[in-house]
Amino acid sequence: TVLVVDYGAQYAQLIARRVREARVYSEVVPHTLSAAEIIARRPAAVILSGGPSSVYEPGAPAVESELFDAGIPVLGICYGFQAMAHALGGEVARTGDREYGKTDVTAEGPVRSLLEGTDDVQTTWMSHSDAVRTAPAGFDVLASSDGAPVAAFADARRRLFGVQWHPEVKHSPQGQRIIENFLYDGAGLSPEWTTGNIVEEQVAAIRAQVGEARVICGLSGGVDSAVAAALVQRAVGEQLTCVFIDHGLLRHGEAEQVERDFVAATGAKLHVADERGRFLTALAGITDPEEKRKAIGREFIRAFEAAEHAVLDQAAAEGARVEFLVQGTLYPDVVESGGGEGASNIKSHHNVGGLPEDMEFKLVEPLRSLFKDEVRAVGAELGLPQEIVGRQPFPGPGLGIRIIGEVTEHRLDILRRADAIAREELTAAGLDGEVWQMPVVLLADVHSVGVQGDGRTYGHPVVLRPVSSEDAMTADWSRLPYDLLGRISTRITNEVEEINRVTLDVTSKPPGTIEWE
Ligand code: XMP
Repeated sequence: TVLVVDYGAQYAQLIARRVREARVYSEVVPHTLSAAEIIARRPAAVILSGGPSSVYEPGAPAVESELFDAGIPVLGICYGFQAMAHALGGEVARTGDREYGKTDVTAEGPVRSLLEGTDDVQTTWMSHSDAVRTAPAGFDVLASSDGAPVAAFADARRRLFGVQWHPEVKHSPQGQRIIENFLYDGAGLSPEWTTGNIVEEQVAAIRAQVGEARVICGLSGGVDSAVAAALVQRAVGEQLTCVFIDHGLLRHGEAEQVERDFVAATGAKLHVADERGRFLTALAGITDPEEKRKAIGREFIRAFEAAEHAVLDQAAAEGARVEFLVQGTLYPDVVESGGGEGASNIKSHHNVGGLPEDMEFKLVEPLRSLFKDEVRAVGAELGLPQEIVGRQPFPGPGLGIRIIGEVTEHRLDILRRADAIAREELTAAGLDGEVWQMPVVLLADVHSVGVQGDGRTYGHPVVLRPVSSEDAMTADWSRLPYDLLGRISTRITNEVEEINRVTLDVTSKPPGTIEWE
């Protein structure tokens, strides 16, 4: 395992992803781990991430120099690079020359090392105000930039490396090569982490965790729960019953799709529970997003407990008890819900932070260490059809968090009709593959004046939120063709009479999140 030590920047997860793209397994750990704790985990290599601090700030997270004496290959990035230089006796200076954004870096000296195979002058993404002025003893300077006299260094003998820029972001076009140079040449690792390994490991882990017990799995209609269920089906198929809670917050046609496609692909046992009334009642009067998420999370578990009884009745002859609940929780959910320590709680994802404390099931979460694209690859490996593994992500709380204001049956119906049109047009334009997801958000408490036919209308706006993303951690708004936007707008305002305005969200993430709540 390659451990990525998170200094509080958004970049640590991205680094872990890049390492996995290089087919080496990696995990993010908080910087609060001591050097001794890191060494005790026997990592194959360590990467110190960037972070918002300056090494001179009081309380800035330091790197203990023991880490560099343990014989473990280390790559420092940005803040990690400076902290490494500082710990090893190099000079980190407040140059006052802030470099931010695209920056040219020039290779220096005879040693290529980390920069092997990259251009002499390469574009990189920088974000720093301090700079390393003198490399520690034993290090070769590999590159410099206007604001960073030492922009990269290496001590090949001790297998210690560092770069001032962010090789993990797409704006550093040769960054992946640098990460691979570190992993393969610097640390001597091989690209052996594959989808097949993930499946094998997870199947073994599920068998070990579950033993002979019965397992229940909630299907949401999304990729994650389907892949999680298919993994558990592969591991302990006889003991698994899938439950589909129809909470009434799904999009048009989704309930039917789960019943048909998923069962056909996996052969899993499926129990369908119509719980639309329960969720509407629980959501009545709630407008606060976090309260909605908590209510939905709570009712989900309650609904499963109710379903458990139904499933148990069926299995009564065998005298079994359902002990485990499968959840399709992903790595980014875990980190964003504060599970990655050091990361702030941005939203309580309903399948992580929103769980009630008196829950009756133990959790099986086979996707807890995976990124979305890895989940899709695992799904394909397990034989799930493209309609399931290629689906755009849809949040667990469903349309409940796409209605700004109270959730009612009538509002759900309005949003479902508008959403179906938007999805249909996006698919017809052949853009499903380019758009990560396109929430349609109903501003249910907002009215605006319009004119239709000869009459004045006083309807609601919807917001189209098409985004492109790699892992939902960051996203950019998608530049959809105007004629497509025009068609969606015309059709929605014509076909959904309660809506008289269609607007476009042109905010990236950050600062906006993908969903509005
Ligand atoms: P945000 O809005 O945080 O969303 O930028 C990031 C991604 O996560 C999805 N999402 C959720 N998925 N349970 C889920 O399973 C949730 O509570 C939840 N909230 C947001 C969202 O659709 C996007 O893909």
